[in-house]
Amino acid sequence: MAIKRSSEPQEIPAQQPRQLKAKPNPDGTNLMSPQANPQEIEPNEEKIRPQKLAEYIGQKDLKGILNIAIAAAQGRQDPLDHLLLYGPPGLGKTTISLILAAEMGVDCKITSAPALERPRDITGLLVGLKPGDIIFIDEIHRLNRMTEELLYPAMEDFRLDVTIGKGQTAKTRSIPLPPFTLVGATTKAGSLSSPLRDRFGIIQRLRFYELDELTLIVKRTAEIINITITEAGAIEIARRSRGTPRIANRLLRRVRDYVQVHQAETITAELAATAMNLFDVDTHGLDWTDRLVLNTIIEQFNGGPVGLEAIAAATGEDRKTIEEVYEPYLLQNGYLSRTHRGRMVTAKASQHLGYESSASKHQQTELF
Ligand SMILES: Nc1ncnc2c1ncn2[C@@H]1O[C@H](COP(=O)(O)OP(=O)(O)OP(=O)(O)O)[C@@H](O)[C@H]1O
Ligand SMILES: [Mg+2]
Repeated sequence: MAIKRSSEPQEIPAQQPRQLKAKPNPDGTNLMSPQANPQEIEPNEEKIRPQKLAEYIGQKDLKGILNIAIAAAQGRQDPLDHLLLYGPPGLGKTTISLILAAEMGVDCKITSAPALERPRDITGLLVGLKPGDIIFIDEIHRLNRMTEELLYPAMEDFRLDVTIGKGQTAKTRSIPLPPFTLVGATTKAGSLSSPLRDRFGIIQRLRFYELDELTLIVKRTAEIINITITEAGAIEIARRSRGTPRIANRLLRRVRDYVQVHQAETITAELAATAMNLFDVDTHGLDWTDRLVLNTIIEQFNGGPVGLEAIAAATGEDRKTIEEVYEPYLLQNGYLSRTHRGRMVTAKASQHLGYESSASKHQQTELF
């Protein structure tokens, strides 16, 4: 492959990368998305969600901090400090919030910023709380200004400031609230306003899971959904799960279906691998679209750098989907790098896709 470099916007050739088969899942289901799909909402998910902190696998640092926070709060008979959890989807933020409520013996009200559009949405929630209760707000970076401002005194002094009347006769009244804990979750900690961020006593990031942790998660879920799996079978699923429990659980269910249709009793490594190859999930957990994105950058843009718009146009994928669903994993795992001039594939990606020599040539061009 020739290495050509140009600072001009790239022309987008119509030709598609050579090596790809037809796109699987034409119905639009996305097996490798970390976001929950419609089948993965409560109550289906409830059975497999860990209920106690001790059952929650991985995230050791976070668990350590929460254990101390729980013990301290219980000792003082206070509610927990407000907690902000950030990190990619599917890593267990909602699960943590439910576990905290269970450990503290309180209720957890789950909502998300887009559902708190009007001031009365949040005031309604707050006045209905019992002492110690937890409010979980997902996508908290999307709160509107008014709702956010109602939250400041509520978080700080357990007080709700409401304005009654309009214009000159308007009065502010303070309503006392029971002490409560706000757990906020976001995939974009940087988009949170700093006054809101500053009101959280504990701010913790969730990390992608290691292979051994995901293997334990697969084995635990297998037991709950009543399917036998060998250690090697669990590893095979874990290593294709992109560091994400939600994907591990989803792959396990799909592999179970495959195994049952083939009238086998146990998920072995061979059966798991055959099933996942059929779903077009490769050994590194890359799916059809990941490979399309990487192949397109290599073949049509000489490995990059190339802007997101151009990648979206050349692959026919939505720009936001690439940015939010595909790119985070590719970036975090060293398949893609982001420079001020755009995205570039790495030697690791080129090697994985079988372009080894051109990638190293390309990296050299970048260096000199
Ligand atoms: N540490 C863990 N151990 C075992 N299972 C886990 C763990 N973390 C998450 N899970 C499982 O992964 C699934 C997704 O977790 P959860 O819904 O808490 O993710 P989330 O971070 O809230 O995702 P989103 O950002 O999409 O809301 C759940 O079904 C849960 O059972
Ligand atoms: Mg969630």
